Amino acid sequence: MSYQQTEVWCVDKEDNQLTSHPDIQQAGLWIKKGEVIAFPTETVYGLGGDATNEEAVKKIFQAKGRPADNPLIVHIGERAQWHDLAADIPEMARQLADAFWPGALTLIVPKKPSVSNLVTAGLDSVAVRMPDHPVARALITAAGVPVAAPSANRSGRPSPTKAEHVRRDLDGRIAGIVDGGASGYGLESTVVDCTGDEAWILRPGGITKEEIEDILGKEKVRLPGGAPADAKVTPKAPGMKYRHYAPDAPVYLLTDNSTENERQMNEAKRQGSTIAVLASEERRDEFSRCADVFLSLGSGSRLEEVSASLYDTLRRADESGVDIIFCETFSREGLGLAIMNRLEKAAART
Ligand code: TXA
Ligand code: MG
Repeated sequence: MSYQQTEVWCVDKEDNQLTSHPDIQQAGLWIKKGEVIAFPTETVYGLGGDATNEEAVKKIFQAKGRPADNPLIVHIGERAQWHDLAADIPEMARQLADAFWPGALTLIVPKKPSVSNLVTAGLDSVAVRMPDHPVARALITAAGVPVAAPSANRSGRPSPTKAEHVRRDLDGRIAGIVDGGASGYGLESTVVDCTGDEAWILRPGGITKEEIEDILGKEKVRLPGGAPADAKVTPKAPGMKYRHYAPDAPVYLLTDNSTENERQMNEAKRQGSTIAVLASEERRDEFSRCADVFLSLGSGSRLEEVSASLYDTLRRADESGVDIIFCETFSREGLGLAIMNRLEKAAART
């Protein structure tokens, strides 16, 4: 599917009449008619289509080049829409929705037979999220349908945190983009499987493990890759098996050992490679000495700055034309868990 022109609508997320804004109305109407439209959320930009229309769902997979075995998240504007999708809402899911919706949390629950197998990639569960972004909410309301939306990047690329990133990946491949400025967290939502007796965090994200434990109790919350004994029963988000979040240049993670870091960087330079270092502002002086390009991730003591800038900075590192990207690592507490998850995937060689 190709489009002569991808329409871009610029809207102000502070506008308190967004739902009746003519651009949102038009974008919503296009979704209702089966087109796919990119839009901002508080996590990253999504690529939305009518979840009840299989032709629209196919267009999402085509535009992204996404494998058909990777299911989509269905976005809702009001809690009542959840009942149209879920066969059952387990108590844990209800508690988490009460605490964090609207917000950066995706809940996996048993699906109703009416939910298309294309959306869920044949699984008997469905992933649902109520986003907390005024533009996303207004658009879903204007469309009047549940909106299936993966991140609005070409498959395998870092998720878009700005409309410009969407345009670079998908211009001419989608009908339109609603530009509502930069997204908030800059990393995707936390995906929690609530179909069993415990809540499995399949993808760490904006809502932290600690916040989820505060609601459900530590003993109810599990993270895949924990104890080896869990391996057999660990549920998985199909999307987590793909190499993700990656720029074109190879990414290497730095360690706490600065001698070893310098050795690695000098070795790369001896071999004729140009290098970019992505690190916190606090470490600018240390790394600027060895790097051809230094890109700041913000303050390392404010992980929300690091998460908000991470994907944009990975894309900028690529655009600078360097051969290798080195990146600082962070503690796995709070948002650090999601940041490290994305960095490790960006650095994975397969
Ligand atoms: O923040 C976000 O979640 C963004 C915005 C647009 O909402 N969306 C997003 O979607 O990141 P996507 O498609 O890039 O990632 C969805 C993840 C994938 O890893 C997918 O495999 C998993 O959720 N997923 C979806 N449905 C699932 C299901 N029924 N069971 C297990 N995993 C599921
Ligand atoms: Mg994605």
